[in-house]
Amino acid sequence: MTAADFLVTTPLPDPGMRLLEAAGSVTVAASRMTRAELADACESGDYRVVVAQLQDEFDAALLDRAKIAGISNFAVGYNNIDIAAATANSIIVGNTPGVLTDATADLALLLILAVARRCVEADTFVRSGKFSGWEPELLLGHDVSGRTLGLAGFGRIARATARRALAFGMTVNFSPRPPGERVVSTEELGEFAGRVHQLAWPELVATSDYLSVHVPLTDETRHLVDESVFRSMKSSAILINTARGPIVDETALVAALRDGTIAGAGLDVYEDEPRLAAGLAALPNTVLLPHIGSATVPVRAEMARRCAENAVAIARGELPPYPVNPEARAR
Ligand code: NAP
Ligand code: GLV
Repeated sequence: MTAADFLVTTPLPDPGMRLLEAAGSVTVAASRMTRAELADACESGDYRVVVAQLQDEFDAALLDRAKIAGISNFAVGYNNIDIAAATANSIIVGNTPGVLTDATADLALLLILAVARRCVEADTFVRSGKFSGWEPELLLGHDVSGRTLGLAGFGRIARATARRALAFGMTVNFSPRPPGERVVSTEELGEFAGRVHQLAWPELVATSDYLSVHVPLTDETRHLVDESVFRSMKSSAILINTARGPIVDETALVAALRDGTIAGAGLDVYEDEPRLAAGLAALPNTVLLPHIGSATVPVRAEMARRCAENAVAIARGELPPYPVNPEARAR
């Protein structure tokens, strides 16, 4: 390989940096790169592969001028990259699917339970010295077992969430490509055949006690969950979002939570991350996490390994093991 094979915008957890350093030369950005700095670096011809994070935005204007062979994204989601523009410019993109599925599904279940059982409120109550003994009506919440979970999307993380919800005795429904329709065959359902039920999006919204979002952020899914969806939900329903913030209209969510249109929300992602919509942080019927769906030590290590393997393969002119747009190579 030539000099300056990898530009790393944020250092990877172990073993990511070791794998990159063993394969070629590595430049690590001194601090979070602005869009202009990232564009200049991509245009400079000094780097073959950018090892990127989901806050690094690669829009069409940047990609049209970039002189890089590829981008290895340290995430399964890749909405920060204009894939059509990358493909048009023969820029290969890699991501880290699979290894974070269970951890993210664990977090979706955690949010369901935490909102339902008012976990954060209860913890704060105890720590602030207010607990004066068992009371019949102290911090009453919502049931989980026997309730209905609606999954927006039925990919890897949604299925892993379904597995957990079924074990909790929930009824599980899903809509595979909301708001559109796509019939999932019995064969595709696999282990879930007869155990979960496909519903049209409006029906899923109207019947769910917990509505959990598991689709990628695209032009079609931006504000999939908006004011009209909140109005169609049960007033006792709880929204869970571990996918991407802009899929939910966060301002409309705050209004729906304030006026009782829905009962609660558990969020790991935000529309304008890391900023929160006005009023969200003050609402007691929410549990708010800082985008930690995949944040376990082993999972981040496996993501770093996949991310580095993708980057090394791209730098060598090979197809990465986890490609998003393999067709870019043929161009
Ligand atoms: P996946 O296996 O690719 O599943 C995606 C699901 O969304 C599938 O049901 C897919 O339908 C559907 N879908 C795809 N494009 C769509 C569109 N344009 N409109 C509506 N539905 C569409 O993805 P995954 O691994 O489960 O991950 C899902 C998302 O979770 C990621 O994209 C990422 O944004 C997010 N995530 C967040 C965290 C976190 O830290 N909070 C961690 C990991 C992932 P088809 O089967 O028909 O394609
Ligand atoms: C995290 O949000 C990911 O997409 O991996």
